[in-house]
Amino acid sequence: MNRVRLLEVANPEELSRRAAEEFVRRARGRRFCVALAGGSTPRRLYQLLAGAPYRAQVDWTQVEFFFGDERAVPPDHADSNFHMANETLLAQLDLRDPQIHRMRGERDDLDAAAVEYANEIGKVLGGTPPAFDLVLLGLGRDGHTASLFPGTAALSEGRRWVVPNLVPQLDTRRLTLTAPILNHASYLLFLVAGAEKREALAAVLEGPRDPLRFPSQLVRPERGELLWVVDRAAAAGLSEAMKETLR
Ligand code: 6PG
Repeated sequence: MNRVRLLEVANPEELSRRAAEEFVRRARGRRFCVALAGGSTPRRLYQLLAGAPYRAQVDWTQVEFFFGDERAVPPDHADSNFHMANETLLAQLDLRDPQIHRMRGERDDLDAAAVEYANEIGKVLGGTPPAFDLVLLGLGRDGHTASLFPGTAALSEGRRWVVPNLVPQLDTRRLTLTAPILNHASYLLFLVAGAEKREALAAVLEGPRDPLRFPSQLVRPERGELLWVVDRAAAAGLSEAMKETLR
């Protein structure tokens, strides 16, 4: 079975609906540990999940929410990935606090925050490394995902599950999951929309293997499945042969 697949859809709205269907299908009727993506692409997905028909199709009391990465800002900051997920989804779901596992990006000591988060993942999921049921990921125009940016130290992390990462190109620090734990997930969903992602998507999927330049190439699940849900504008740079391979 082809564990890496690509689904091309017409537009961002269709991308969000297909992602919501995947989320619900994977979450149905059991305890479910998910790592949410930040950025702007998943906003609409989270809004859809908070409403009909998807909301009623998940037992949200069984869902443990984690994050793939976080900015070095407080949780109420406009740049916070938690803030975006909370206002579009989490705050609508009447969750018990312990179900939301926020990365403490606001901490001065991001090393300590990374260790704490890794411990929290281990405690809730178990396993070494733990296996998320679902990881949602976006793709940056430079080929990054989570906060695994080109040329940064986190790309070479082969042991720790969560690390602080200095991102000189943004003059900032981030917290991010690393390849070891991402690749142990049962199911990963990349959500990629817009013509501005065309070059990055083609480079990641069809270019030479160069994860230092295109970190999303690090995401290669060991046993799980990876589905790229991409809209037509982002997929325009892919060859028909590649689309056929990943169908
Ligand atoms: C973040 C995300 C990041 C995002 C990509 C794509 O913290 O920003 O983790 O990896 O998924 O940058 O962002 P857009 O969805 O906004 O294009």
